[in-house]
Amino acid sequence: MSVLILRGRILSFTSEPQSLDDDKCYIYIEDGALALSDGLIIARGEYSDISQQYPDADINDHRPHLIVPGFIDTHVHFPQMQVIGSFGAKLLDWLNTYTFVEEQKFADPAHCERLAKIFFDTSLRHGTTTAVTYCSVHKSSADAFFKEAQNRNLRMIGGKVMMDRNAPEALRDTPQSGYDDTKALIADWHDVDRLSYAISPRFAITSTPTQLEMSQALMQEHPDCYMQTHLSENLDEIEFAKQLYQSARDYLEIYEMYDLLGDKSLFGHCIHLSEREKASMAETGSIAVFCPTSNLFLGSGLFDFEGMREKGVRTSVATDTGGGTSYSMLKTMDEAYKILQLRNQILSPLHSFYMMTLGNAKALSISDKIGTLDVGSEADIVVLNASPTPTMKLRYETVTTLKEELFMLQTMGDDRSISAVYVAGKASHPDL
Ligand code: GUN
Ligand code: ZN
Repeated sequence: MSVLILRGRILSFTSEPQSLDDDKCYIYIEDGALALSDGLIIARGEYSDISQQYPDADINDHRPHLIVPGFIDTHVHFPQMQVIGSFGAKLLDWLNTYTFVEEQKFADPAHCERLAKIFFDTSLRHGTTTAVTYCSVHKSSADAFFKEAQNRNLRMIGGKVMMDRNAPEALRDTPQSGYDDTKALIADWHDVDRLSYAISPRFAITSTPTQLEMSQALMQEHPDCYMQTHLSENLDEIEFAKQLYQSARDYLEIYEMYDLLGDKSLFGHCIHLSEREKASMAETGSIAVFCPTSNLFLGSGLFDFEGMREKGVRTSVATDTGGGTSYSMLKTMDEAYKILQLRNQILSPLHSFYMMTLGNAKALSISDKIGTLDVGSEADIVVLNASPTPTMKLRYETVTTLKEELFMLQTMGDDRSISAVYVAGKASHPDL
């Protein structure tokens, strides 16, 4: 059995932080070590103990850096890598003007394969080891996504979007072809290696009632798959959705009519929800996905993080690139902090780092597999350098506590702070 030891400062959460003073919610080991073997973490502790336990192990010494679980992104669009930073539009115009144009290129399998490679290189470069991903409407885009993830032994979740109206002809499937392609993709990829499928009706505006019925059938036939869609992101979107489904009292009820809610259902954005919608999300264990950089970039609104938590709605965080503007979960939490400042809510750095790791793993119901550095966990790991640039180095001179360091990393950090990435125990940074 070959064993690899990572030495450095170990940080892993055990529960959701209740405040910045909550020191019971995490484990921190100053001169710590993890022993990795067969893709798993097999031991964790003081370096002196672990090195004695495994005297023949190879050692990667990451001191003085922080070793944390790989970041998890719960909502990202793989076909939108070349949409990021498209000027001057809000959601519906942005979709029609930029996004639906770009997504048409994924009709070409060679484009899908090229972009899939770049997508995973980019994710890993930013420390993201798991992402819940929308592919384009083309089956070939999901095939390329899963094939490349499998080659890299990544834990990834994805699905081809289904959309049969209010999109260009070239991006429309039909209820039947969307159903058939999804069935075939689930058969080929769901639960294969570290891959899972997310049934993905894009949103109510681009699906007819018949397509949502087909989505319902898919969920009933595959209850262990995820479901992902968009909800209540933008006021014009909400009005349009309600016009299309006039029997629904509100936007969420459209999805409720087709039984799409549940504890594996991820709803992107959830910015403008009524009290009834929040209560229904809470009751069904559905997950509201907070996408800070996207919500600011598209001028969609300010997510009510505290309000959601008070009502018992499960939440996660995500980049939502290409509406979002960065692949970095650090940058994402930086913008989350600023949104909550405008709402007079405080997001502590402990909470941010919890959300990127264990919190998102819990939202996906896979915290037994990823999101912590616990023994038995899959060895998806990120090493963080808090002073990779001159400006960060200067600021770091004044940092005296772990919490200050985390907040500085979140505020100033990005891909330059990622000094190593391990996927299932193997060094996997594309450039290092
Ligand atoms: N709503 C429906 N599709 C999309 C998308 O691709 N991005 C965002 N931000 N919202 C959406
Ligand atoms: Zn999205």
